[in-house]
Amino acid sequence: MGNEVGGSDPDPWSRWLLHHRDADDPQVRRAMRAAVDRYVDRVIDGARLAPGHSLLDVGTGEGLVAFRALERVGRSLRVSLADVSATLLEHARARAGELGVLDRCAFFAASADRLDGLADASMDAVATRSVLAYVDDKLGALREFRRVLKAGGRISLGEPVFQDEALGVQAIRSMLDAAPAEQGDSLMRLVHRWRAAQFPDTTASIMASPLTNYNERDLLRLAQAAGFVDLHLELHVDVGPSTIKSWDAFLDSSPHPLAPTLRQIMDEQFTSSERQSFERGMRPVIEDPNAVSTDRMAYLTARKPGA
Ligand SMILES: C[S@@+](CC[C@H](N)C(=O)[O-])C[C@H]1O[C@@H](n2cnc3c(N)ncnc32)[C@H](O)[C@@H]1O
Repeated sequence: MGNEVGGSDPDPWSRWLLHHRDADDPQVRRAMRAAVDRYVDRVIDGARLAPGHSLLDVGTGEGLVAFRALERVGRSLRVSLADVSATLLEHARARAGELGVLDRCAFFAASADRLDGLADASMDAVATRSVLAYVDDKLGALREFRRVLKAGGRISLGEPVFQDEALGVQAIRSMLDAAPAEQGDSLMRLVHRWRAAQFPDTTASIMASPLTNYNERDLLRLAQAAGFVDLHLELHVDVGPSTIKSWDAFLDSSPHPLAPTLRQIMDEQFTSSERQSFERGMRPVIEDPNAVSTDRMAYLTARKPGA
């Protein structure tokens, strides 16, 4: 892979969620937020929450799942918000204050695979939305979810499936590797340099990265191995109009928290003439009013045995 995806930033999470997901562009933010709200509602549907329940939102980020669940179920719901990013937990705490729901919330600095501070059999539901994708030990995380759930408690997970993106980048690499050095479309070589900075592009690196080493059926198998029953899996593949329609917003966005933005990649890895020829080739593609993008989300629900 051209770059180590993720780099050395100790908290890529808050930088991405608060800035690079939507390129700090109000129009992109509205479109992204509408898409994320749909994912979040689907995850909450799967948790089958009822008044008086307790919900753990793992990898809460800005608290979208937790706060939306409170809005839907009402103030009798108790939500626990866990995350590895201290900045995001502070952000979520401030948001809880603004929403007037601080007394319904508890905050935990904890990793999905080590839910320190959360008692055994204390939750009616555990939810994640785009979190397990970044966790190395997915089975360990699912076992932790089972530990903190009451008998009969539910998991509801909505996770992106990025494997196809990585396989696409791998295919470009294989094609370029097979072409003689002086051949191979020069734009295609730049496209590969860009995408390989955001996704692994060899079989070994795809299988080594928690972001790409699983598909939706792996999530199902892992949940079963962690001891869950009544499993239900849905893969939603949505091909629709691109959320990012301007070149500037595209330059400042990245597809996931561990990926650098296109602008960072161009600054660090492209010469100025490469930047110009890349923009000449790619800008019309991005700004094409008919441009589409594809989202692959796996929704998994299951129950802890008992009750
Ligand atoms: C793509 S964001 C999703 C945030 C939120 N769930 C949402 O739907 O908006 C990924 C979140 O997972 C958190 N995260 C990353 N690794 C984690 C881990 N090992 N355990 C718990 N949370 C983690 C990040 O800090 C970030 O808040």
